[in-house]
Amino acid sequence: MNVGLTTEILPAGEAATEAAARTLAAGGLVAFPTETVYGLGADATNATAIALLYQAKGRPAFNPLISHVSDLAAAQRIGCFDDTALKLAEAFWPGPLTLVLPKTGDCAVADLATAGLDTIAIRIPSHPVARAILKSFGKPVVAPSANLSGHVSPTTAAHVKSDLDGLIDLIVDGGAVEVGVESTIVGCFDAPMLLRPGGLPREEIERVLDRKLVQAPPDAESDSGQPLAPGMLASHYAPRTRVRLDATSIEPGEALLAFGSPVAGADMAAAVMNLSARSNLTEAASNLFGYLRALDARQARTIAVMPIPHHGLGEAINDRLRRAAVGRE
Ligand code: TXA
Ligand code: MG
Repeated sequence: MNVGLTTEILPAGEAATEAAARTLAAGGLVAFPTETVYGLGADATNATAIALLYQAKGRPAFNPLISHVSDLAAAQRIGCFDDTALKLAEAFWPGPLTLVLPKTGDCAVADLATAGLDTIAIRIPSHPVARAILKSFGKPVVAPSANLSGHVSPTTAAHVKSDLDGLIDLIVDGGAVEVGVESTIVGCFDAPMLLRPGGLPREEIERVLDRKLVQAPPDAESDSGQPLAPGMLASHYAPRTRVRLDATSIEPGEALLAFGSPVAGADMAAAVMNLSARSNLTEAASNLFGYLRALDARQARTIAVMPIPHHGLGEAINDRLRRAAVGRE
């Protein structure tokens, strides 16, 4: 572990952008906001920096990372875009979409970042702080969510600090993020495939492509062999407290994660947080990880989660909740 580092926290702005670019160039680790969640960035062309990143997160080394770039030209230097990929890039970048593409022949991203795969995951984020840092640094930046592996993804600088203080060089504080769940990942294979539901609803992608996305095999990553999107490890998003899904009632001692009007008896709960009292899925997504963390900290017997509709951002929310509910031994 790279313990003993002093983690600096700077408010977003010109000085922070410069410090971030300098730190990345020196092989350091910088957490910064994107529109989806906070990312932990390292120079994507520097295998040593990437090794430090895996170490800081305690992430299984087979888990490949997303390369973040500032524009399409930079993306095309590392990934081969077919017509489908170009269409998606033009429609949704910058934004919460990651494309998995064949690597280019002279792709400068280190093999360690792609875990030896011949494909690469690429994203152009829309958050102004992320964009400023990418532009100033001028090279691809790998950035997994800035949490310890297996913990809930961070949506504020305080979340990052609570997981990674002393393990990384710099946190750029740009306030709470907007989307609250990670990017949607689409594999641009023979048929475009939804590898991870996320901040861009599937329906919007299907509308632009005028076709359905192929569904990735359910939990393909739990089989032996090369995982498709191994970040989808079954318990990737688990809090420490047991999670009970689709709760339509509440047991004494349980904490309640509500959606819409709380279930009858909610006043008995050890704690109640409402993802969206007005049943708005966008609001619910942005609250999801923060509320899971807050309820986890209450050390209730169980976190009971009310049913969430499965359309739009609901697909990503339900995906993360299902992972949170998988037992952690
Ligand atoms: O919103 C996001 O995407 C955030 C922000 C920081 O940009 N990043 C993020 O990264 O969620 P991470 O490392 O937590 O998730 C990356 C996902 C994993 O599920 C990984 O398996 C998948 O991308 N992935 C990366 N490269 C891949 C590849 N070549 N083929 C298939 N899946 C890949
Ligand atoms: Mg993650």
